[in-house]
Amino acid sequence: MLLVSLIIIQGCNTQHEGVILSYESKSDSIISLMTLEEKIGQMSLFTSDMSATGPSIRNDYTDLIRQGKVGAVFNAYTVDFVRGIQKIAVEESRLHIPLIFGYDIIHGHRTIFPVNLGQAASWDLEAIEKSERIAATEASAEGLNWTFAPMVDISRDPRWGRVMEGSGEDTWLGSLIAAARVKGFQGASLADNNTILACVKHFAAYGAPQAGRDYSTVDMSDRSLYEWYLPPYKAAVDAGAGSVMTSFNEIAGVPSTSNHWLLTDLLRGEWGFNGFVVTDYSSINELVPHGVASDLKQAGELSVNAGVDMDMQGSVFLEYLNELVKSGEVTEKVINDAVRRILIAKYKLGLFDDPYKYCDKKREAEEIMTPEFLEFARGFVAKSCVLLKNEKNTLPIPSGVKSIAVIGPLADSKADMLGFWSAAGQWEKCVTLFEGIRNRAGSSVNILTAKGCNVNDDDLSAINQALSVARKADFVVLALGESKDMSGEAASRADISIPGVQMILAEKIIKTGKPVAVVLFNGRPLSISELDKMAPAILETWFGGTQAGNGIADILFGDVNPSGKLTMTFPMNVGQIPLFYNSKNTGRPINPQNPYEKWKSNYLDSPNTPLYPFGYGLSYTTFAYSDIRMNKNSFLENEKVVASVDITNSGDRDGEEVVQLYIHDLVGDVTRPVKELKGFKKVLVKKGETVTVTFSISSDDLSYYHHNMNFTYDPGEFALYIGSNSAEERFVKFIVQ
Ligand code: NOJ
Repeated sequence: MLLVSLIIIQGCNTQHEGVILSYESKSDSIISLMTLEEKIGQMSLFTSDMSATGPSIRNDYTDLIRQGKVGAVFNAYTVDFVRGIQKIAVEESRLHIPLIFGYDIIHGHRTIFPVNLGQAASWDLEAIEKSERIAATEASAEGLNWTFAPMVDISRDPRWGRVMEGSGEDTWLGSLIAAARVKGFQGASLADNNTILACVKHFAAYGAPQAGRDYSTVDMSDRSLYEWYLPPYKAAVDAGAGSVMTSFNEIAGVPSTSNHWLLTDLLRGEWGFNGFVVTDYSSINELVPHGVASDLKQAGELSVNAGVDMDMQGSVFLEYLNELVKSGEVTEKVINDAVRRILIAKYKLGLFDDPYKYCDKKREAEEIMTPEFLEFARGFVAKSCVLLKNEKNTLPIPSGVKSIAVIGPLADSKADMLGFWSAAGQWEKCVTLFEGIRNRAGSSVNILTAKGCNVNDDDLSAINQALSVARKADFVVLALGESKDMSGEAASRADISIPGVQMILAEKIIKTGKPVAVVLFNGRPLSISELDKMAPAILETWFGGTQAGNGIADILFGDVNPSGKLTMTFPMNVGQIPLFYNSKNTGRPINPQNPYEKWKSNYLDSPNTPLYPFGYGLSYTTFAYSDIRMNKNSFLENEKVVASVDITNSGDRDGEEVVQLYIHDLVGDVTRPVKELKGFKKVLVKKGETVTVTFSISSDDLSYYHHNMNFTYDPGEFALYIGSNSAEERFVKFIVQ
């Protein structure tokens, strides 16, 4: 009883700084009451039996909570369910310490937004932040207070299924998005009841697995790691992310979960991270198959001494830390430090004030899938769509059409609209493409539909019926792509073309001569050179989530002018992978006039160029760019480089354009990429009007890790590009002294 009151007293007024003690000393006084077993319990995270996101679950988690052997639970949500579990912790465990409740809230909680790669294509940081604000509001109304997001892994390999969760291939843009997501989740203060703790993942470089195979080996130079892969994690940490998740992979022979340099020297030391580090799902156990630990006990020792604070689902801490402390292989200080970090997070979340703070039935009834959230989701779908091709203005669908055939295996597939990691999203509440088109077209237009084939098998039997439906319509919308489980975790593909017999369906439908717009659903860049050759129009829509069909219809009918731009290169073929815009020139650069010239860095059987480059996306209008103007041509250190360009809307409707700035350091201390994104602005240009876009870049934007790993810039000549995608060649040169 004494212990209970002590904790309750400590919990009073935690939000008023200076009132009693700091979170740190409060945590320390709790630690002083704890047995070693209870401390280790705080360092253990288990999934509930509500759902599973990994290979095995421990069904005895409620008993463990009762015994004080669990610090946090994941995969548990809805107020009653969470309250029931929290009650065990705060009423039946000896020290009554509340649990944190975590979940993979990756692109929405109940209202599901486009998959993250699609969101990134909006280049709209405000919308991205707002989507996380909504996700946090919904999740916290259902008992949750911790998300395993943002996932900020840079990836250059579309075979890797998890590219759908990230922001694409660019580090600079990925860092801005990482920070926006953290701000969205954590809001102004974690003390608010509608904010949740963010968890940056997967630390580090999980997005660079060899051959694009999930969980595979990562090996790269320090320079690549620092320059391309680490900055988004750092940006998320700088934005205040309260936790970090280790990655499954090794880097240069050291698995992240046992990497002291990564978790302690870099993350806590250099970056000043003061939150807690959780492993990925049983990744301590995986140190054994990785081959750096001979058994689970050694795995536990390596990981905790490297800087891991919490073991996700592996039970290794629970089983072995006690023994390891007793034998002196792990000090109690290491344990206390970890527990303190976890308790501080609980204080920040206000759980000691009120362990049921996130269990509010009224909020659960009122703050989920509100009309406002759904309206935003619909707009976000439209923002994330990328118009890849639009020959002869096939789109928007002409206003006079009397009948539209919506054909394809994804035309009316509710189950696929959410995409992978759809958290608590309900597929039955999704709007399909067919439904979205029907909603928008109204009763005067006849909307027909046919599946034609399945996503991924060789059954041709339904194609003829789809053809006859197509022949009856004035306009055909052809929905092709991947099913939702073909991307995401453990969903790498060696062949990233459109699967099954869908291309046979596409060819036959297009040959009918009807106007055809292909609508693509997929979680990664696909290899679609053949489709690009034959389809008059292609709209990339990713997996749009709850409002997918409505948002896509807004684009198809021209109510919203597409403005999305790719944040990951679409290759011409799989053999070009990894293919990304910020590559090096090499000593034998390809000759653009003769791409197959011998003795150059090229292929015998494929150009080096992508099908659609990074930054690419069309609009229903056209934008004309003026030449680039600069404030001057030669700069001293610390002088701002200011560049501007006029964008004229030369088409016949208003439109938004993502204006992009790239630089190229022509002669570096080490070789430099041919282009690096260093600025963008998304501007609305009304038809017939001209808008001036001005960028200002600093010496920091020109700096990079030199061969001695100093972060600095090279005096000398730079090229500065401004354009509508990374392949455009409009540039000026300037000198930095
Ligand atoms: C494994 C995934 O890699 C990670 O992203 C996720 O957060 C955990 N499982 C929990 O579901």
